[in-house]
Amino acid sequence: MLILPLALLALTVYALCRLVQQRRMFRNLPGPPHHAIWGHFLVMRDIASSLPPDATPQLFAHLMRERYGLGDFFYLDLWPLAPPQLVIVQPELAMQVVQKMNLPKESAVMRKWTGHILGEKSMVTANGHDWLVSRKSFTPGFQPRKVLQHVPGIVDDVLDFCDVLRDHAVKQDIFGMEDVCARMIFNISARAILGIKCNAQRNDDEFLELFRAQASLAPQDFWSRYLYDISLRRQYQKWKNGRALDRYVGRLVDDRIINGPIEKNMNHAIDDAISFNNRNKNMDTGTRDMLIASVKTLIFAGHDTSASTLCYTYAALSKHPHILQRVREEHDTLFGSDPATAASTLREHPHLTNNLHYTLAVIKEALRLWPPTGVSLRAGQPTQTLKTADGTQWPTYPFAVLVNNCATMRREDLFKDAERFYPERHLVTDPQDPYFVPKDAWRPFEKGPRACLGQSLALLQLKIILVLTLRGFDFETVYEDGSFMYQVLDVTAKPSQGLPTRVSLR
Ligand code: HEM
Repeated sequence: MLILPLALLALTVYALCRLVQQRRMFRNLPGPPHHAIWGHFLVMRDIASSLPPDATPQLFAHLMRERYGLGDFFYLDLWPLAPPQLVIVQPELAMQVVQKMNLPKESAVMRKWTGHILGEKSMVTANGHDWLVSRKSFTPGFQPRKVLQHVPGIVDDVLDFCDVLRDHAVKQDIFGMEDVCARMIFNISARAILGIKCNAQRNDDEFLELFRAQASLAPQDFWSRYLYDISLRRQYQKWKNGRALDRYVGRLVDDRIINGPIEKNMNHAIDDAISFNNRNKNMDTGTRDMLIASVKTLIFAGHDTSASTLCYTYAALSKHPHILQRVREEHDTLFGSDPATAASTLREHPHLTNNLHYTLAVIKEALRLWPPTGVSLRAGQPTQTLKTADGTQWPTYPFAVLVNNCATMRREDLFKDAERFYPERHLVTDPQDPYFVPKDAWRPFEKGPRACLGQSLALLQLKIILVLTLRGFDFETVYEDGSFMYQVLDVTAKPSQGLPTRVSLR
């Protein structure tokens, strides 16, 4: 009879002791106003209520910093809903974390969001040996020289995209730009990584639908976001969809292990990864699992983030006609004044994409203001401390270290007129110029050994898409409720309402 009340009492005492211990930990640490009972929850509530309810939390650190005059780093006490955090918003300190210490990823927290989509051993969340093997296996396939080989295939997929846009232009309807961009870039990713042709632009492609079914099961409600996914039905669906996705990718991988590359003179990333592993040992189950997890990671991470970036770029250009004009002029200069010839020029001279300096600056500026993955979440270590310029050492343990690039890239002292969309800043080479971008301050792909593996593919495809679409169409971003685009949380940060857009033929 007494067991239950005693257990409850013990639990209450434990929770209180834990609360006191947690809250005390923040006594001498820099941060926003701290409450003895609520920690930083009140601050978080105030910041969250200043944004739309679905806005991505990656923006919180920037707003917090502005509101409370915080410095280059600060600590956040959000126990028991989130681990205690050390937030970094300065390039040099960020480089300490991701380059010098190369702190491991905070895998358990990250997998809550992506584990069911990408697999437990995904390159993005793995550490140590698992990470090293998958990174080394797929690095050869993403060398800039190899990536350039995909230009003709990318051009084909973008021309299909132009057909889709043309249909919308004829109908003059308002459509979700994010969906059509994601479908195109899914095709490009599958082609570049596996050498297969998907049909996601026009029809429901089985491969894409399997990903989408899993992505739709990412934590949405409060409890599953912060504590544990309490829905048994959702847990079951994740397991079932996950198996179906693994079987699908497994078939593709097995086919390549057995039959080798499908194109004679061209290795795709999967072929390079297979030959890298065959060189060292026979293909065992662990290696096969690694290949499956990596393919899922590359295709999902690649298409999702690139599609959002394209949307941010279109939205920014629709608001800044003079910038759009300058981009079009660059395309005229490099590819001739007839847009219809650009596709064949690109196929024949893929290196021309290296000369799209202003176009690249526009993409970089979109990534600065709206990074799709604006944070890198690392696990602090007892032996590692953060050293500030005055020589003080600050603990990284027992904190989750949140390198918040989203906030860093909105700092007025690093990016003059930080809220302004101003691509020219990325072309400034004189360090005395107020718009000069300081070293390591622009970091939407993160830096160091865990930097984005697909950066060169992402930038290449975005440049090609802009060359083939901007002179053919006018893009108008149409929020009928009077709002304008902001970033919402949907596994990564995506444009609100999927970026409602109307296109017209020029
Ligand atoms: C504009 C598009 C993209 C952006 C903004 C982006 C951004 C990022 C960022 C910030 C990270 C580090 C994440 C972290 O620290 O937790 C990352 C990692 C990664 N990205 Fe991308 N990415 C893009 C496109 C791509 C593409 C096209 C691919 C491949 C096809 C790709 C594959 C990866 C992989 C495999 C990692 C994990 C690398 C590792 O941990 O070793 N990404 N990306």
